[in-house]
Amino acid sequence: MLDGTVRVRAQMTIAVGNDHAGVDLKLAMLEHLAELGVEAEDFGTGERTSCDYPDFAEKVARSVADGTHDIGLLICGTGLGMSMAANKVNGVRAALCCFEYCARMAREHNGANVLCIGARVTGPDVAAAIVTAFVQTPVNDEERHARRRDKIMALQGD
Ligand code: RB5
Repeated sequence: MLDGTVRVRAQMTIAVGNDHAGVDLKLAMLEHLAELGVEAEDFGTGERTSCDYPDFAEKVARSVADGTHDIGLLICGTGLGMSMAANKVNGVRAALCCFEYCARMAREHNGANVLCIGARVTGPDVAAAIVTAFVQTPVNDEERHARRRDKIMALQGD
């Protein structure tokens, strides 16, 4: 999945990962995803002891890039480190979202396939709205959006 195309399967699945700062929000989002009917695979961590966010970003990003899961959710303190790390993996378009509107646009225009949230800046109710928007918004396949996504993906070869 190295271009801007987006796979759609009948039952969307999501890979979820977090560092120590994201454990509680991750648990809340797993419950929320279950309520939304989205099957989730939890790549950890379940520990609150300090760990390295790129390790979990890599697991989730690779599982999306290789097609094991349709989309991913990564949670750290700010969401910044997770988004930086996930965007290093070819095939991934990770978006750090603090607002529901951004989550909708990240899917609709940018075809983001990994959502990043900062547990230290985003409360659980707002995070749930962001996750709902990300999961339920279809990617817009109009030519101009697909062309721009293709240009993003072409940069990953650099
Ligand atoms: C951990 O303290 C923190 O740096 C991490 O959760 C994240 O915010 C990094 O971007």
